[in-house]
Amino acid sequence: MIGLFERLARPFLHALDPEDAHSLTIKMLACAPLPRAAGDDKRLAVRAFGLNFPNPIGMAAGFDKNAEVPDALLRLGFGFVETGTVTPLPQRGNPRPRVFRLNADRGAINRLGFNSQGAEAVLRRLAARANAGGIVGINIGANKDAADRVADYVRLIERFAPVASYVTINISSPNTPGLRNLQQAEALDDLLARVIDARERVARHAGPTPVLLKIAPDLSLAELDDVVGIARSRRVDGMIVGNTTVTRPANLRETKRAKEAGGLSGRPLLPLATRMLAETYVRVEGAFPLIGVGGIDSGAAALAKIRAGASLIQLYSALVFCGPGLIAEIKAALLAALERDRLDGLGELVGADAAAVTAEAWPG
Ligand SMILES: Cc1cc2nc3c(=O)[nH]c(=O)nc-3n(C[C@H](O)[C@H](O)[C@H](O)COP(=O)(O)O)c2cc1C
Repeated sequence: MIGLFERLARPFLHALDPEDAHSLTIKMLACAPLPRAAGDDKRLAVRAFGLNFPNPIGMAAGFDKNAEVPDALLRLGFGFVETGTVTPLPQRGNPRPRVFRLNADRGAINRLGFNSQGAEAVLRRLAARANAGGIVGINIGANKDAADRVADYVRLIERFAPVASYVTINISSPNTPGLRNLQQAEALDDLLARVIDARERVARHAGPTPVLLKIAPDLSLAELDDVVGIARSRRVDGMIVGNTTVTRPANLRETKRAKEAGGLSGRPLLPLATRMLAETYVRVEGAFPLIGVGGIDSGAAALAKIRAGASLIQLYSALVFCGPGLIAEIKAALLAALERDRLDGLGELVGADAAAVTAEAWPG
């Protein structure tokens, strides 16, 4: 099935507008009779946030925004799937076109702006599969015109904690004006206090739902000091590093497309995202695990993320360029790395290069 996709579907999808190609992919996943991927080697298992992940490779947020195909994605071999971003009320997002492929750079720029079917629709789907097994998280965001954005996050935590394996607080999308200001110290402290309080309140009936914080790779190191300090003091369960970047590396080849407004993802994001991951890792001092995201498109990039400090990884853009065969390729590369170092689990590699990465010249 995956081989068939690689040969037939990918060239066809690349001929379409990126957003149309994405809608079609979701439809195909929703009706394709995908066989379950082979069971994972025990050495790839990861325990984090109180959850048992069969392998460390996750589908990043934004692919399955409305939780239409989480089980199909698990069947492709992902160890977990992050659905969303969902907003409380349905909203359309920005006008199209709003997703651009940078083929020569193997990257993408998007300014979707939280297009979401809204909490009701997504909740219904997650509730319907809540007992199906597999780790399916939900990434939550505020409506663009919300009067009180923090109240949106609180409301979504209350609603989704009973049906999601974990909840990610997304305050790092560059495409909702002002959203990233929630990463500023005072605003973040208030947000996390109220979100964690809501989580504690619903834990009585929902159980202990881990709360993760997803940050932008564009924070200054002084801002990162504050964010990590607050995440630690408010006892979040983990952080995701990170979202797309509003910066444009100097070496991009698709110079015209690069001028489009929005967040850049894919291969050109790898150096910055990995540096911010390592900077986060050294500040967190083991207080909670990290998910490394941004530019993973090979086994080597996945291993580099883990060695920079990621207990788990996620990817999105590379699926567009490499197809789902990438998942098995990464697993094989991670197992080869374990065999090379005679290790029986990935834990010993996590953060092994973090200090060295933070000593390198800043990626430009
Ligand atoms: C088209 C597109 C839509 C995205 N939507 C979301 C989203 O709704 N919420 C979110 O937290 N991240 C979103 N992301 C960011 C990804 O989750 C990920 O952090 C980023 O793309 C870096 O990973 P990658 O280089 O593997 O794509 C989106 C990315 C893309 C390309």
